[in-house]
Amino acid sequence: MQIIRTKSGLRALTTSWRRAGERIAVVPTMGALHDGHLSLVTAARAHAERVIVTLFVNPRQFNNPEDLAKYPRTEQSDAAKLAPFGADVLYVPDGDQMYPQGFATNISVSGVSEGLCGAARPGHFDGVATVVTKLLIQTDADVAMFGEKDFQQLQVVRRLAEDLDLKTRIIGCPTVREADGLAMSSRNLRLGDESRARAPVIRQTLAQAADRIRQGAQVAAVLADAGDQLRAAGLGPVDYLEYRRDSDLQPAAAPDAPARLLVAAWLDGVRLIDNLEVAPAG
Ligand code: PAF
Repeated sequence: MQIIRTKSGLRALTTSWRRAGERIAVVPTMGALHDGHLSLVTAARAHAERVIVTLFVNPRQFNNPEDLAKYPRTEQSDAAKLAPFGADVLYVPDGDQMYPQGFATNISVSGVSEGLCGAARPGHFDGVATVVTKLLIQTDADVAMFGEKDFQQLQVVRRLAEDLDLKTRIIGCPTVREADGLAMSSRNLRLGDESRARAPVIRQTLAQAADRIRQGAQVAAVLADAGDQLRAAGLGPVDYLEYRRDSDLQPAAAPDAPARLLVAAWLDGVRLIDNLEVAPAG
């Protein structure tokens, strides 16, 4: 696996691949790789002859400077983890490559980026949309893999790829979970032992709420109970706990598929998100 740090170096390589008729898949990441990311690399391999993993901790998507400062930077161990997964390139641009002096463009997706994490983290999805657009163009990708754990992000990226006529096909991949159900996330590393032991309650709460909605319970009551359950387990504040349609992330009325429960809640100073599809009863 080659490590490439410049746009020009990357372009030389992608041009040679294109000449050879090879397809390119990209897995955009901010590093601190875990099995969730690695599953995206495996999925990427099934779609293209060439796989690029990008590693860039994007300052524009952090609305909180402390969060940016605390974000783990683990390039060496990330490269070591990727080695057995068959990525061709780890692309690690620096801030000047991505946002050179004079950079003045912002990609802003309305609709699906509003509410949920968009409300709790102002500017976050503009930062994501801007960097993802640049990464898709820089890597010349035919397909790009995104985890469903960040479901709102996935829908924002799908929207921008369609609206900007990008050639890249956006593929959502299932959330990878720890054995106890906690969705894998780089943020889990920040949980102390006691909080880590408590964190699976998020997934348990979503699963119970999903069952009730499937059985026809009133959505508002289910959401209120689920929020109480999280707070009783020591999580808080709960930024949101919602039942939304997949397509436009607007409130869903049960039973209304495809739709899912989405949550963001704080545990021990760490903001955790998760979501769960409410499959129709059947
Ligand atoms: O999901 C992430 O890690 C980031 O938001 C992404 C898509 C790599 C953009 O910086």
